[in-house]
Amino acid sequence: MTELRPLRADDVEAADAMAFASLREAVAVYQPGAPRWPDRSEERTAQARLRIAHLRETDPDGAWVAVDGEQVVGLALSLRRGPMWFLSLLAVDTALQSRGVGKSLLEAALRTSEGAGAAWILATTDPKALRRYAVAGFAPHPGYTAVGPLDRSLLPAGLAVRDGDWSQDAELVEDVVTALRGAPYGPDLDAMRATGQQLVTASDGADRGFLVLRAGTVGSLGATSPALAQRLLWEALARADKPDITIDWLTADQQWAIDVALAARLSLLSGPSSCRRSALGPLTPYLPGGAYG
Ligand SMILES: CC(C)(COP(=O)(O)OP(=O)(O)OC[C@H]1O[C@@H](n2cnc3c(N)ncnc32)[C@H](O)[C@@H]1OP(=O)(O)O)[C@@H](O)C(=O)NCCC(=O)NCCS
Repeated sequence: MTELRPLRADDVEAADAMAFASLREAVAVYQPGAPRWPDRSEERTAQARLRIAHLRETDPDGAWVAVDGEQVVGLALSLRRGPMWFLSLLAVDTALQSRGVGKSLLEAALRTSEGAGAAWILATTDPKALRRYAVAGFAPHPGYTAVGPLDRSLLPAGLAVRDGDWSQDAELVEDVVTALRGAPYGPDLDAMRATGQQLVTASDGADRGFLVLRAGTVGSLGATSPALAQRLLWEALARADKPDITIDWLTADQQWAIDVALAARLSLLSGPSSCRRSALGPLTPYLPGGAYG
């Protein structure tokens, strides 16, 4: 029998392994054309566990597992940053999907959304996820994923961005992201740094922006103007550590990013969507990160 209980520290490894397998299967089945998820390195696995442990510490009331005896068969992770609620992860063991486990986990995680001015979710292309979120009142904003090999000769010169410093540039990042989504990253900035993510920043007159690179790809990106955001996205492409590029969350309100993807001759595939109950900021020009919104 499946039961729900708060996520414990000793669940983290099993919950991570289950969630990775579940999400990998969902991408393979429901996002044809998207790159298959390769096996993870030890480093990537450690980073994924750290993310789960981090949110268990910061948001214990938003972190739940479904268990069948001793086995972890479902995980929900959410975060509350001031007025903003965000679902960081929802996954059910592939063998036990479509039996209501996801619904119960989402309901448990949503308890911390009470009184939030903003609540949103970045959804995979799994139709079960989209149904769950839409039925719970989150309007889906369909998105594209840009994929393809990068022709480096298309990269523009003179992007004028610089390596960021997690301490010195924290105020810049927090100011920009708060204006975009209504809440700072807060403790999640430390988690990004601890998991080896790389910060890039840019300023141009009164405009400011940042890019977080996670495992050589866009972890999140925000700016006060679309033009600066475009420069940062080009920089992300320039710094990609493999020739095959993936950019997610290209919803209709991120035309600036779609334009960069097209100029880079990447292909637009139907992709994950942004599901929103309410928002406290324009959420553009912004490419969110799946883990922290
Ligand atoms: C998305 C997920 C967490 C939902 O959990 P779950 O336990 O499977 O979901 P539930 O059984 O609570 O709900 C699934 C709903 O989708 C419906 N459904 C099942 N197959 C479907 C399909 N092919 N198309 C549309 N709806 C479908 C079910 O009938 C149910 O709706 P209902 O309760 O109104 O009848 C789970 O399927 C999963 O882990 N998927 C892979 C990982 C993933 O994509 N996670 C989402 C991260 S954003």
